[in-house]
Amino acid sequence: MTGETAVITGAAGGIGAAVARRLAASGARCVLVDRNPAVEDVAASVGGSAVVGDLTDPELSARAVRAAGDRVDLLVLNAGTNSADKDPATLDLGRYQAVVGVNQHSVVYGLRAALPVMRENGGGSIVVTASLAALQGTEQDPIYTMTKHAVIGLVRAMSGPLSKEGIRLSAVCPGLVDTPLVAGARDRFQAAGIPLLSADEVAAAVADVLRDGEPGTELVLRPGRPTARYVPAPLP
Ligand SMILES: NC(=O)c1ccc[n+]([C@@H]2O[C@H](COP(=O)([O-])OP(=O)(O)OC[C@H]3O[C@@H](n4cnc5c(N)ncnc54)[C@H](O)[C@@H]3O)[C@@H](O)[C@H]2O)c1
Repeated sequence: MTGETAVITGAAGGIGAAVARRLAASGARCVLVDRNPAVEDVAASVGGSAVVGDLTDPELSARAVRAAGDRVDLLVLNAGTNSADKDPATLDLGRYQAVVGVNQHSVVYGLRAALPVMRENGGGSIVVTASLAALQGTEQDPIYTMTKHAVIGLVRAMSGPLSKEGIRLSAVCPGLVDTPLVAGARDRFQAAGIPLLSADEVAAAVADVLRDGEPGTELVLRPGRPTARYVPAPLP
């Protein structure tokens, strides 16, 4: 992938930072985007650049594409967070909008910013970090489940048309991953014997899908199990 330019969102730690390390190691010039200023250190460590800000603002995605020199070969729309609200009846609206803003809207903002330059440059490859919660209802976090189903819907609707323009769009759908997102519950998972994926295992899958994935791939990753493509059941 030498000479390619990659934009990776949510890259201050966890899966995004691991993706940045992999893509940089294979020669891509990386632009890392996150609201956490620690992203600057991660960017420096991979010889890339950082854009710090809130991805719920569509302008930040535009800034990231400009920082990439208006050339985006690889785009990883990975930023996301879970929701503290389980019951819509008692929803904190600010928190709700922040979760939907990053998990769902920022994926659209990323595409809005990058697709014009990908088209101009004759193609590109995009992976969205979804989740197992994109493919099944997760009772522990219904709002998160909704946002991840939304991005899988977008991938299903757009991957076919985009592939005709030389742009690949796919998703990875991991189970629990050992990242800062689950840090608060890591001890509980460990005590209950629940295994976690490593961020680097997910990053390896992201890099593979970016490079070789068939458009519209929904790659399921679970600890201790072989990676598998999810194929939705046909309508009855
Ligand atoms: N950790 C898991 O168990 C797991 C499982 C399945 C899917 N995922 C998904 O993987 C992706 C990466 O998560 P992770 O596990 O590496 O967690 P993480 O918390 O380490 O990474 C997410 C990053 O997104 C950034 N971010 C969140 N909201 C933002 C905003 N509004 N603007 C800019 N940056 C923002 C955070 O600062 C953080 O650095 C997320 O989309 C998450 O939903 C995680």
